[in-house]
Amino acid sequence: MQTKNNYRPVVHFTPPANWMNDPNGMVYANGRYHLFYQYYPAAPYWGPMHWGHAVTRDLLHWEHLPTALYPDELGCIFSGSCVLDKENLSGFGSLENPPMIAVYTSHNTTTHLEQQSIAYSLDYEHFEKYYGNPIIANEGQPDFRDPKVFWNPIKQCYSLVLAAGKNVEFYSSRNLKDWEKTGEFQAGIHGLGGICECPDCFPLQTEDGEKWVLIISMILPPEETGKENNAFDRMSHITQYYIGSFDGNTFIDTEKSDIPLLPDFGTDNYAAVTFQNLDEKVMIGWADNWDYAAQAPTADSGFRGKMTLAREMKLVKTEQGYRLSFSFKGTEALEAVSFPLAQGDNRLHSDTFGLKAAVKGTGKIVFRNSSGEFVEITVTEEEITVDRRHAGQSSFQQDYEKESYGLNRAPRQLRDSSEIEIIFDKCILEVLADNGLTPFTVSVFPLQPYEKIGVTGDIQAKLFYLC
Ligand code: FRU
Repeated sequence: MQTKNNYRPVVHFTPPANWMNDPNGMVYANGRYHLFYQYYPAAPYWGPMHWGHAVTRDLLHWEHLPTALYPDELGCIFSGSCVLDKENLSGFGSLENPPMIAVYTSHNTTTHLEQQSIAYSLDYEHFEKYYGNPIIANEGQPDFRDPKVFWNPIKQCYSLVLAAGKNVEFYSSRNLKDWEKTGEFQAGIHGLGGICECPDCFPLQTEDGEKWVLIISMILPPEETGKENNAFDRMSHITQYYIGSFDGNTFIDTEKSDIPLLPDFGTDNYAAVTFQNLDEKVMIGWADNWDYAAQAPTADSGFRGKMTLAREMKLVKTEQGYRLSFSFKGTEALEAVSFPLAQGDNRLHSDTFGLKAAVKGTGKIVFRNSSGEFVEITVTEEEITVDRRHAGQSSFQQDYEKESYGLNRAPRQLRDSSEIEIIFDKCILEVLADNGLTPFTVSVFPLQPYEKIGVTGDIQAKLFYLC
């Protein structure tokens, strides 16, 4: 007998109803983290895009706010970013009440022309569109979208990076209204190439001083999907990053890695970007996959689309070179009450739980329910696998069902003992393995909640609940 499982996550952000994709405009202001998102409020599938809006103080519990941006005569509202204009360089507010500026893509639904526009808010909830839009016009270049605005410390002005076909382009401005192009970066010379989407560019401190990271999500052409060393030889969309420097005009890929550097090895993390106006770098991604998101069996639970938890990033030196490492931000409070797990099977009292484990050698962590469904996380000396092939419903879409989408794998980054953090929340599994160097985000749809957790091998784990 099939039990109807409620898939709505407890601490992962989901829209109040219907369809959501990319996170947009993430910015911290007055003690609240703002998240805007690609939203189609009328149906559980993609449609004319709006910007939905929500806030949180702890990155776990979200409050829905009214839809922030609606389609207009320039088009619907595609992805973009927000900045808190503290010095009021835009003139839309004052030093006492700095404006929050949204920089987004106006996508004409008939011609598909994409141009960049801005809107501002003084109460950080209601937005006024700028009468001078578009602020970066476009004569007809296809795929020209997703501006991510950031402070340019070299030129002491704003810069933005946007996706322009197979490149990303950089622009700068003093007032957020008048922009000039300063440079471009060609994706695919190193790493994978494709139509770029949702770029992000920011500095991180390392033991060798400051380095810049450029993140690009992209639509892969078929010839790229089979490329060697691509953990995603199966997916049509992927996110990768580059490590280098920023000269005030453009990003320079100093690392030149031929292996694509991946911020996630799972099937379900796309269009991930970082918060503005935070000292630390914190990322959230869309925890879904364009290949099957529109068929995900969450519509009966009232939503389609979910976000990853917030992850704080660091750039750490490994034997292979510099790599991003991630840790969950905001979960410390949940870990305050935790239970050591015995070897073998343990009972689960909720289907929203977390696990922190010390890995001393090899081992396995398995969650299962009484329908015979299970998820298996295996650590060997060579690799880490997150196997969802038997995790639950899979026949809702042919790609989801494929073996290569079900068995997520990544090479080990650390030889010695390491830590693994796992969060499971109704239908989303996040695994940060090898001290956060190897993240996986994976959607799973068990017919009924997992009731048991088994730990075997050289793994010592503590369990905690998310609510
Ligand atoms: C990425 C993306 C963006 C675009 C948005 C439209 O997932 O395709 O490039 O702005 O989604 O919803």
